[in-house]
Amino acid sequence: MFKVAVIGGSGLLGRALVDELTRQTGWQIVATAFSRPSPRRVALDIRDAEAVGHFIEQTAPDAVVIAAAERRPDVCEHNPALARALNVDAVRSLAAAANRCGAWTLSISTDYVFDGSHPPYRHDSAPAPLNAYGRSKLEGERALGETAARGCVLRLPLLYGPIVDWSESAVTSLVPAIAASAAPDGRAATMDAWAIRYPTFTPDVACVIRQMLERHACGETISGIVQWSGDEPMTKYEIAVHLAEALQLDAHLAPQHTPTDATPRPHNCHLASSRLEALGIGRRTPFDTAIREVLAAFPWRGDSPSA
Ligand SMILES: NC(=O)c1ccc[n+]([C@@H]2O[C@H](COP(=O)([O-])OP(=O)(O)OC[C@H]3O[C@@H](n4cnc5c(N)ncnc54)[C@H](OP(=O)(O)O)[C@@H]3O)[C@@H](O)[C@H]2O)c1
Repeated sequence: MFKVAVIGGSGLLGRALVDELTRQTGWQIVATAFSRPSPRRVALDIRDAEAVGHFIEQTAPDAVVIAAAERRPDVCEHNPALARALNVDAVRSLAAAANRCGAWTLSISTDYVFDGSHPPYRHDSAPAPLNAYGRSKLEGERALGETAARGCVLRLPLLYGPIVDWSESAVTSLVPAIAASAAPDGRAATMDAWAIRYPTFTPDVACVIRQMLERHACGETISGIVQWSGDEPMTKYEIAVHLAEALQLDAHLAPQHTPTDATPRPHNCHLASSRLEALGIGRRTPFDTAIREVLAAFPWRGDSPSA
């Protein structure tokens, strides 16, 4: 039995990953959560190194996937201690515990380790994060490299996929403003038309991770840094146009051609996925297909609780 521990199985990416991996025959998946444990998700605070050690020892996995993190740039900016505890120190204690049982550790990182001025970025391009989130994730990558006897970092860009709340993804979080702009008395919604993003579908990432785990299971372990990205460049304004079309809303959207965020964000961090592509790993669902799937499973109901 090939055993995988998914740390952060309650998050946007973690849920897609658990869904993908539980379909594998002969695999056992043990998922953890923090504020959202359930009968299928063990409660674990990854800031507690002793609890982490105990969980990994009890589970004895062949592979540990770290999808738990503090991924909100504004929260990281205002609470760097929390960012460090989750994005750096916890990676170190998980990797150390994984070493003790001989497990491979796959840690998820971000395109925000780059400054966005010279895309595309290869896995070995020089990182230069612009904000506290990017800095903490880069430190987390280094912590994994220093600690894991067998480890790999997977960098990803803006994610979207099946949600339980509109705010879970920076793609779906645009929906309430788009819908409000389409109301009879609605004012135009201003959307960033400056930063170029590559929205990437979490079930596609889950497929990539499953393929990487399969390599490990058959002795062809991938190590170092790899990257995966969707291939459709879009600003948030363009994402909003696609969302409005999918929702059949007559939205009033206004592009803003200068940066809109309080926290500094990179302009274009396009990640080259060539290392994984060369291994025959990957899947890309077109944005318009994937976003319709997401919206069909979590329909916009105006002022209903899901709004
Ligand atoms: N979302 C994006 O657009 C994006 C883009 C690039 C890279 N990434 C990276 O992808 C990974 C997954 O991100 P995501 O979007 O799936 O994040 P998410 O939806 O915010 O999920 C975060 C996960 O971390 C868990 N967690 C939070 N605090 C914890 C703690 N103290 N102890 C244990 N677990 C804790 C949460 O558990 P509970 O929910 O149970 O509290 C949840 O499962 C992260 O490494 C992130 O940096 C994300």
